[in-house]
Amino acid sequence: MKSIPANLAWLNLPNLPTPVKVLFSGYLLAIGLGLCMAGLQIMLTHGMADGKPGLSLDDIVYSYYGNRSGSKLESMLNGSMKEMGTPEARIDIIKWVRNGAPEAEWEPHFKGVFNEHCVPCHSTVPNIPDFTKYEEVKKVAKVNEGASIQTLTRSSHIHLFGISFIFFFMGFIFSFAVGVPRWLKILAIAFPFGFLIVDVLSWWLTKWNPNFAWFTLIGGFGYSVASTVMWFISMYQMLILSRNEKIYGNAWESDLK
Ligand code: HEC
Repeated sequence: MKSIPANLAWLNLPNLPTPVKVLFSGYLLAIGLGLCMAGLQIMLTHGMADGKPGLSLDDIVYSYYGNRSGSKLESMLNGSMKEMGTPEARIDIIKWVRNGAPEAEWEPHFKGVFNEHCVPCHSTVPNIPDFTKYEEVKKVAKVNEGASIQTLTRSSHIHLFGISFIFFFMGFIFSFAVGVPRWLKILAIAFPFGFLIVDVLSWWLTKWNPNFAWFTLIGGFGYSVASTVMWFISMYQMLILSRNEKIYGNAWESDLK
């Protein structure tokens, strides 16, 4: 048993009282899982934006800037829906879509084409457009301008508020780490906030100019690395380094020097 220190020498990750360690490591565990799920979700939504699996620069451009040379329907017909119809039907649909998908040709011709090649799935599979209806075809036949301003403002404020909370507590916990040089601690705590702002700004910039998609990758990569480093050091110090029974001294006091 350690004796109770008169000063705050226990105020560091390895020497924290067990209830506080349970609180901190429980939080980090849940947040860590949450971050993995967020990564997976990005792969499954944005990752598929260009019709190919895996996250690429194109996905980011498609998501925010859109694909202004064609519609969603056309890019899907060149992507994961390519094998669905005959090559003739595909070309036929693409030509019609490029013409603005006029309704006059729906009943006499295209309704039948979609019925034959697409409707077996696109009317039965949930959460994909129902191609028995012209309105649903029309929606995906529009030129894809990427994320709308409404979507951008919504996801920007949710990200900025929500993720700042995650980084706040993560950085707060990490500030009690021992043996980390003062400058490194400051950088590790500041980086996620900086990269978060770069990430969110880059969505807006990419909507305007697709070359900014790089910043989305840099921002996302930057805060993933910074928070992973803080996560592992914090967990290691609380759960493993603590086992040698050493008293490390007040973590904040040592950072004053
Ligand atoms: C074997 C089933 C199947 C057939 C046949 C099929 N699709 Fe799909 N389609 C899907 C599934 C599943 C998705 C959602 C997953 C994805 O995006 O790849 C989808 C997604 C789409 C999307 C994107 C919809 C959106 O809003 O995200 C378009 C556009 C599309 N299909 C067009 C077509 C066209 C045009 C045809 C006919 C030439 C066709 N599909 C035939 C299964 C099918």
